[in-house]
Amino acid sequence: MEALAGKVIVITGASSGIGKALALELAQQKPRLVLAARNRERLEEVAALCQGRGAEALVVPTDVTSAEACRRLIEETIARFQSLDVLVNNAGAAMWARFDELANASRLEELMQLNYMGSVYPTHSALTHLKQSRGLIVAIASISGLISPPLLSGYAASKHAVMGFFESLRIELKASGVGVTIVAPDFVQSEILAKATGADGTSLGDSPLEQRSLLSAEKCAKKIVRGIERRKRLVLTSERSAWARWGQILAPKLVDRISAKIVGFRE
Ligand SMILES: NC(=O)c1ccc[n+]([C@@H]2O[C@H](COP(=O)([O-])OP(=O)(O)OC[C@H]3O[C@@H](n4cnc5c(N)ncnc54)[C@H](OP(=O)(O)O)[C@@H]3O)[C@@H](O)[C@H]2O)c1
Repeated sequence: MEALAGKVIVITGASSGIGKALALELAQQKPRLVLAARNRERLEEVAALCQGRGAEALVVPTDVTSAEACRRLIEETIARFQSLDVLVNNAGAAMWARFDELANASRLEELMQLNYMGSVYPTHSALTHLKQSRGLIVAIASISGLISPPLLSGYAASKHAVMGFFESLRIELKASGVGVTIVAPDFVQSEILAKATGADGTSLGDSPLEQRSLLSAEKCAKKIVRGIERRKRLVLTSERSAWARWGQILAPKLVDRISAKIVGFRE
């Protein structure tokens, strides 16, 4: 039997990119999925695809920046499936701009509210149920939660917050049997870069990185599923991520130069 068959798995940000690919990858194991994001229509499409692969799927339109909406997401999950095994905090967005060119610094607050508090709220509401199932919390952080490339200051700050929060929570929850898996993907093909806000606060419209050169969301999802099955502490999606962690200690200036080159930053 598949390791995740019948498990109740909530995924935020399930309407596109990594969250959608993860839902589809998991669906093959016939879990009971709860799909959350703001766009109901897109969630319904993902749900139909998951059902076609043998999973049950419940759609709960949710804005994760609202604590109340996240509470309802978990309530509806329990009302339908009576338990919760895995919570995947995946919803997120990005900013791609020099900080000294930003028209309005409040964008950083919005990113903290979505990327950081949007993971904290569902986790807080889900904890009682996860303790009952000795379940797993999955935090989709980023390589930008491990190192901090230029042009991504607001995003990197929010992902460092995610890393810090879930590393601490892991220790607090150890005795309860609830696991914490942090995923820190390198760049992945998705809508996030085209939708990222630039210096003027509006979406870039086009991805600043060539999407074809990035890991596919499907391959990323396979790595995340393996991490969930093994209740891994940290999932990285590229060799350079693993290298970057050591590089920051051993050769930090080199990491600065390489990360600037990767995002095409020029002083
Ligand atoms: N792609 C990458 O290169 C990369 C690398 C490292 C980490 N990540 C992380 O991976 C996660 C998924 O990103 P992605 O690349 O798959 O981007 P994406 O294709 O833009 O998907 C983002 C998802 O988040 C949802 N979302 C956005 N705002 C929301 C809100 N307020 N409430 C609920 N859902 C919301 C979106 O759905 P709605 O618009 O329908 O709400 C969508 O489902 C993010 O946390 C991102 O930081 C991505």
